Amino acid sequence: MKHFSLLLAALCSLFLAPCSLRAQSEQQIEDILSRMTLDEKIAVIHAQSKFSSPGVPRLGIPGLWCSDGPHGVRAEVLWDEWNQAGWTSDSCVAFPALTCLAATWNPEMSRLYGENLAEEALYRGKNVMLAPGVNIFRTPLNGRNFEYMGEDPYLASRMVVPYIQGVQSKGVAACVKHFALNNQETYRHLVDVKVSDRALYEIYLPAFKAAVTEAGVWSIMGSYNRYKGQYNCHNEYLLNDILRGEWGFDGAVISDWGGCQETPQAITNGLDLEFGTWTDGLTMGTTNSYDIYYLANPYKKLIQEGKVGTEELDNKVRNVLRLILRTSMNPNRGFGSLHSDEHYAAARKIATEGIVLLKNDVAKDKQPLLPIVGYVDEEEKVFNHKKPVETILVVGENAILPMTIGGGSSSLKVQREISPLQGISERAAKDGIEVYYSRGYVGVERLEQDNMSVDMSEEKYDYENGEDPKEEMLFLARACDVVIFIGGLNKDGHQDCEGVDRKEYELPYGQNELIEALYKANPNLVVVNISGTAVAMPWAKKVPAIVQAWYLGSEAGHAIADVLFGDVNPSGKLPFSIMEKLTDYPAHQYGELGYPGIPDPNAEGKFYEEYKEDIFVGYRYADKAKVKPIFPFGHGLSYTSFAYFVWYEDNADGTKTVKITVVNECKVAGSEVVQMYVGEDKPTVPRPVKELKAFQKVYLEPGESKTLTFTLDPKDWGYWDEDEHTFVTNPGYYTVYFGSSSRNIFWRYRRYYSLGKDY
Ligand code: BGC
Repeated sequence: MKHFSLLLAALCSLFLAPCSLRAQSEQQIEDILSRMTLDEKIAVIHAQSKFSSPGVPRLGIPGLWCSDGPHGVRAEVLWDEWNQAGWTSDSCVAFPALTCLAATWNPEMSRLYGENLAEEALYRGKNVMLAPGVNIFRTPLNGRNFEYMGEDPYLASRMVVPYIQGVQSKGVAACVKHFALNNQETYRHLVDVKVSDRALYEIYLPAFKAAVTEAGVWSIMGSYNRYKGQYNCHNEYLLNDILRGEWGFDGAVISDWGGCQETPQAITNGLDLEFGTWTDGLTMGTTNSYDIYYLANPYKKLIQEGKVGTEELDNKVRNVLRLILRTSMNPNRGFGSLHSDEHYAAARKIATEGIVLLKNDVAKDKQPLLPIVGYVDEEEKVFNHKKPVETILVVGENAILPMTIGGGSSSLKVQREISPLQGISERAAKDGIEVYYSRGYVGVERLEQDNMSVDMSEEKYDYENGEDPKEEMLFLARACDVVIFIGGLNKDGHQDCEGVDRKEYELPYGQNELIEALYKANPNLVVVNISGTAVAMPWAKKVPAIVQAWYLGSEAGHAIADVLFGDVNPSGKLPFSIMEKLTDYPAHQYGELGYPGIPDPNAEGKFYEEYKEDIFVGYRYADKAKVKPIFPFGHGLSYTSFAYFVWYEDNADGTKTVKITVVNECKVAGSEVVQMYVGEDKPTVPRPVKELKAFQKVYLEPGESKTLTFTLDPKDWGYWDEDEHTFVTNPGYYTVYFGSSSRNIFWRYRRYYSLGKDY
């Protein structure tokens, strides 16, 4: 009996703990609030330095220290300047950019990413990581696509949740950003986005919603741009109605840096914590610029004059205190660790898993060009009957350029970064392969960010042994067994960079011509494109092997070598479509009104823009318009091949379960992502042919098979009904597609759904 009651007590405490803890901290919040003076309340809702807010020192309440985000913990800057503080203890491990993470299509990688990043944040004393970003890839020109998770709201939702859970499991807050509709950098401080409710709810909000309602994110960052005429850092509709009203968000809304634009709206429209710099230029020369932030003295004055009450203030303070209790006062916060072996291993694993093998055709010697060394099979001795490679020429600036510096606020000061050339050379040496290098083109002479710089001008002449470096390069190309071109973008201005969009879809610095010339010299050409977005690939039909590598972080060179040499079998899938030309992205079909915006007649000096393509973003448009992408959404090859066997089972409740057995047919281990898309056959409103509704990644040893289960749930197949303000699934026929990409469908199934049942 005694044992039973003890057990009961233990069980009760287990189940009641979360609720009572929550109630306890709410009590604590009320208690702290009741002891705070007006000045203290005002102090906690705005910054005290570039990246911190003060807490309540008199009551022993610590402040909040924030850091970018999203790919590593940013170097320390001066108290009130963007310039680096010049510490020696603030380097980090750079994890791959978020497009790479999305390309793994593996939520476990997101969790791994979040946990490891948070370990570094803990060690560096950070409470809030300004990450992750989930704005949708609407145009390949967006300068910040590399910080986001691609074009599909479902993929971004599934990938963002474990990232946040991983970070927050360590007592560090994630701050999901930039809420919302911040899908370009051009006019980012000025543009008012006009978008239908359907596109808002179906395309642009789902990942944020998942972050709030599934991951329970502790903070969210308002974006710079405008929506319905209001700035998004204090936007009634987005923050009050949707975020808090519809989704029940209980965390803190943080402004983007300098994104708060006025006091009255900042008071009433949902902002809790103002960060930024030299706000409005007003603070130049004053002793404490933070006192004149919109939520500082101007707010206090309105309260003191009796022009506004303190209800909103108390709510903001509650939200900030809740964030403090969850992070800087979290009793379970550990000490973390910085650049540990585990962090590097995680960075490398995510990087290799995100690399996408776009193409791997037979080349000159009638064998697939990759992997470079082929596989050795124990019984047959040689699996990939390749003529051994003895010499490799690596061409391209991105083989040597540091890829962790630049790009804006995501720029990092790393403890180490393995360049692609280093990674390839190290790996090639193991097989006795000689590696030559030629820079091929010069894009960047000097890389700079926050007064950290790398001088590349010396490197320029590396290949200039002879009179004409190009001739020398082509001579080497002809002489070597394989040529690996490593180019793409580089996070310099207009080349995947915050604040400025790309100017064109083409690759810069004459790379297309260079690739053509190299191909002519030696058709055994591998193109490795490093970018965080889609680029034009006019040579895609010719070049036999194409690899999409991203900004891969500290372990970039190792990860690229792992895949090129076959030590890791590629399994990444594209998180966006690579189209032939810019206008294949429908945002670019409506002139400047569609992108980047035209002067706003209602707001002088500002712009507005219409998302006229509505819900038809990326593959949703390509399917509808029957445009063939060069490489479709969800595409990615492997060094092995898979077979699929599909059947379905009827469930007792009338629903169906689809079972797919995936078989690894070859002699190397590998992973495949099975993707499920659904489309309504005869919709009453315009709908995409199909939309991603589920996916699973499966790892298989040679010859192994595993069975995956997909539950078909028509509740998830609806569209946003603007009149009803909710998702609605119409009765009718639906087609369910299973594929290894959005275009490579191996099984489709038509079914009727009616009144909550399907037949
Ligand atoms: C960026 C944010 C970033 C912040 C702080 C802003 O300019 O838009 O993403 O977190 O700066 O560096």
